[in-house]
Parts: sequence; C-alpha cells; structure tokens
Amino acid sequence: MAVFKKCLVFLLVLLTAFALQIIFFSPISPDILELPLTSPSASVPPSNNQLQKVIKLGEGLLEGPEDVAVDEDGALYTATRGGWIRRLHRNGSWEDWKKFESNTLLGIATPKRDGLIVCDADKGLLKFTDDGVTVLASHVGGSEIRFADDAIEASDGSIYFSVASTKYGLHDWTLDLLEAKPHGQILKYDPSTQHTSILLDGLYFANGVALSKDEDFLLLCETFRFRCLKYWLKGESKGKTEVFVENLPSGPDNINLAPDGSFWIALIQFLKAWSLCIPPRH
Ligand SMILES: *[C@@H]1O[C@H](CO)[C@@H](O)[C@H](O)[C@H]1NC(C)=O
Repeated sequence: MAVFKKCLVFLLVLLTAFALQIIFFSPISPDILELPLTSPSASVPPSNNQLQKVIKLGEGLLEGPEDVAVDEDGALYTATRGGWIRRLHRNGSWEDWKKFESNTLLGIATPKRDGLIVCDADKGLLKFTDDGVTVLASHVGGSEIRFADDAIEASDGSIYFSVASTKYGLHDWTLDLLEAKPHGQILKYDPSTQHTSILLDGLYFANGVALSKDEDFLLLCETFRFRCLKYWLKGESKGKTEVFVENLPSGPDNINLAPDGSFWIALIQFLKAWSLCIPPRH
C-alpha cells in the first residue's frame, strides 16, 4: 500500500511539473484553431493515380527544392536548401547557376525581364541575375522581414510575396502550427519607389501566392487553415478578400497559375502521427 501511495504522489508531482512547464515555460501561447465543417454537398475529387505517372526531375541531385519557375526560354529553376540555384535547360542538362550562402531559400518566381526572384527566410526578398544578387526587400514598416516564403511578379513589376510567420522562422515553423495564431502577411514591393508595404496582415501561415491570368486578383494559401484566399487587385471588389477554396484535404503549400487560367495547388503530406490527431476531412 505504501508503495502504491508513493507511486501516486510521484505521478502527481510529475503531472504537476508537466502542467507548470506547459503553462509557464512553453514557447507558444496557443489558440484553438476552428475550421469550418465540411458540407455534405462538398465535392470530393475522384481518386486517381495521376501523380504516380510523374517523371521526377533532378532526383538525387537536388537538396530540398522548395519551388520551381520557368523562364521565357523554357529553362526551369529551383532553389535548394544547400543554397544552390540550379537550372534545367530544355536539352535536359542541369546547370549550377548560382550559389548563395544560405540554407533558407524558399519560393521563387521568374520576372518578366531576366533573372530570378527568390524568397530567403533569413534575408527577405532577393533578386538574382547573371551579374549577381541584390536584396530587394529586407524591412517593412521598420521591422526585419523574416520568413519570406513565396513571391510572384505582376506585369507592372510589382512583386507580391508572403511572410509565413512574423513570430517563428523556418527552423521552428511547427510552433506556428501549434500556436494556431495568424502571424502571416502578404507584402508588396514597388519597383518604382523600391518601397515595401504590408498588403494583408493576420493570415494563418501565408504560404504560396499566385496571380490570376488577367492579374485582377491574387491568390494566397493559408496552410494551417486548409484554404486559399482571393484578394482582389482590380474591379469593383478591389481591396476585398474572400475565400477561394477551403476544406482542402491537407494544408496547401505553393500555388501556381496553369496555362488555362486554373490553379495548381500543392498539398503538404503531414506526418502520419499528425494526421491521427485530426479527424478525416471529407
Ligand atoms: C544545353 O543547353 C545549354 C543552354 O543553351 C547549354 O549551355 C549546354 O551546353 C547544353 N548542353 C548540352 C549537353 O547540349
């Protein structure tokens, strides 16, 4: 009996210590993430095996390629975690195009004129050309831009880019997920003034960005809300935000405009353990 009591006390102390640790020393102050319920009429895409037919490019050659972009000559670029920007020519040969001292390169975009726009989770918005690299934006409203995630250039040269989280970085992004608070932003870089401003604030892990074919709206994906938003740039609804797609089967990552005007959205494959914590979403 005494052993049992001791054991009980021990467990109680352990539990209390654990609770105190969480309450007082946790690096996060979480909110409850409320997701909309799926309506029974929500269309579930038919299952298919399209992705099993893909040809993998650069397998074994690329270290953590986050994004791809194609220039007007048809060359395909990707920025890798090793700091290399590699390009694949139409003849099938890979070229080590640029090396940058960074292991935090994320989303990229090909501008209308030469070069490549690259998001660096440490340094902000960069532009690479054959001549070298320039930092286009490192600060907004007096604070440093951290965790720039994805970018897209409009035909007037403006660059829209996302900041996944203003609180956490690439090394601890999972804490942003656990905290479930909206620390994300969409920024706009104006090439005529070289000024960067905040277009949208209070987003849940702002990830991929894309422009519509006519550039009348911007799409942005909020990974932890399993949805993408539409922000109107022109027309009657200019300046308004609405839901473009929600209740996605997983967290959306990058988004790209397809030639027919529709969009490709990449979904994150979360760890199995994480998927056990959320009920099936369809
Ligand atoms: C492929 O194309 C690139 C760019 O035009 C050129 O520099 C390279 O030498 C070509 N490689 C081969 C193997 O033909």
